[in-house]
Amino acid sequence: MGNAPVELRGFRIWKGYLDGPAQAGLVAALRPVLKAAPLFRPVTPRGQAMSVRMTSAGELGWVTDRKGYRYEALHPSGTSWPAIPDAVLAIWAGVTGLERMPDSCLINYYGADARMSLHQDKDEEDYSWPVVSVSLGDDGLFRIGNTTRGGKTDSIWLGSGDVVVMGGDARLTYHGIDRIRFGSSRLLPKGGRINLTLRVAS
Ligand code: SIN
Ligand code: FE2
Repeated sequence: MGNAPVELRGFRIWKGYLDGPAQAGLVAALRPVLKAAPLFRPVTPRGQAMSVRMTSAGELGWVTDRKGYRYEALHPSGTSWPAIPDAVLAIWAGVTGLERMPDSCLINYYGADARMSLHQDKDEEDYSWPVVSVSLGDDGLFRIGNTTRGGKTDSIWLGSGDVVVMGGDARLTYHGIDRIRFGSSRLLPKGGRINLTLRVAS
């Protein structure tokens, strides 16, 4: 689906990978996931509440609290994470061409004032697998840096239906979301932005 990807600092960005109906289908597929594994507000290891709310699907879910950043087999409520919807797995297969499927899908929800500071995704066991991000709803200003902290960065607005592959030499490149343009999309009834990140965690 969509156009060929553009490359920015080693990330492959597929603008408009998902058309409107595909985005709506994905939201519908996520609804039971969010019901079974409600969004929660994560706390950093230093005790700072994050501005995004998050949950996961798959065998493992990424969590953070006072005990640190890690993957866990259970939602904080003690239940298993729901399965990753097939429509989500199809995106992974489509943009990576890999037979190996991700075992974890982090679901981040950004309200009007949420952001995500520059970070590396490095809690996975094997960095040879890419991380794939899928954006739904309001636009988010995505900043891409370097494989080490600091230095020049580039930013690009990610819109609903955009997909980013963070892999290869850029697998450990710093990235984050500076802000969202609340209300820029009508996909989510209450506004805001959902970002899915698919990972092979272990
Ligand atoms: C993340 O890096 O975990 C999220 C990136 C995004 O929201 O686009
Ligand atoms: Fe990340």
